[in-house]
Amino acid sequence: MKKILILNGPNLNLLGTREPAQYGYTTLSDVEGFCKLHGEKIGYEVECFQSNWEGALLDKIHAYGQLYKADEVLGVVFNPGALTHTSIALYDAIKGVEPMPVIECHISNVHTREAFRHHSWVSPAAAGIVVGFGVDGYLIAMDGLVRKFTQTSARQQH
Ligand code: DQA
Repeated sequence: MKKILILNGPNLNLLGTREPAQYGYTTLSDVEGFCKLHGEKIGYEVECFQSNWEGALLDKIHAYGQLYKADEVLGVVFNPGALTHTSIALYDAIKGVEPMPVIECHISNVHTREAFRHHSWVSPAAAGIVVGFGVDGYLIAMDGLVRKFTQTSARQQH
């Protein structure tokens, strides 16, 4: 069974208590739980990883790049948190493991928020972007990954 990685960056361990008006009351462990269940339904093994450290996120992307080469991985759903807006290293890491697809996912609609959240270093390297659907965005991103990178795209069905 191929793997999907649900990768979360800084402060996302605080989901559930952190600015609930912005991010809701669902905890990271709830998110990881429903992503794993969804993976079972759609036929993928889901691994979840969160870190507040940029280097740990880079290492995980590199490791998954190797697994992708070995045909063990479909891709990654990645919420880089605030590193979205600052990290050229994350952009380079995603480019460095191409063609492994990485879907960028944000719980909030970053474009309705402060101007500093409007720019993403990750977007130009991302295979797709899901923004503003709350924590459902992780599931939407998983489905998008499957639809875009397997034989189930709408184009092929219609
Ligand atoms: C976020 C949006 C980022 O701007 C913020 O720094 C986060 C969470 C989101 O999921 O909406 O930590 O990525």
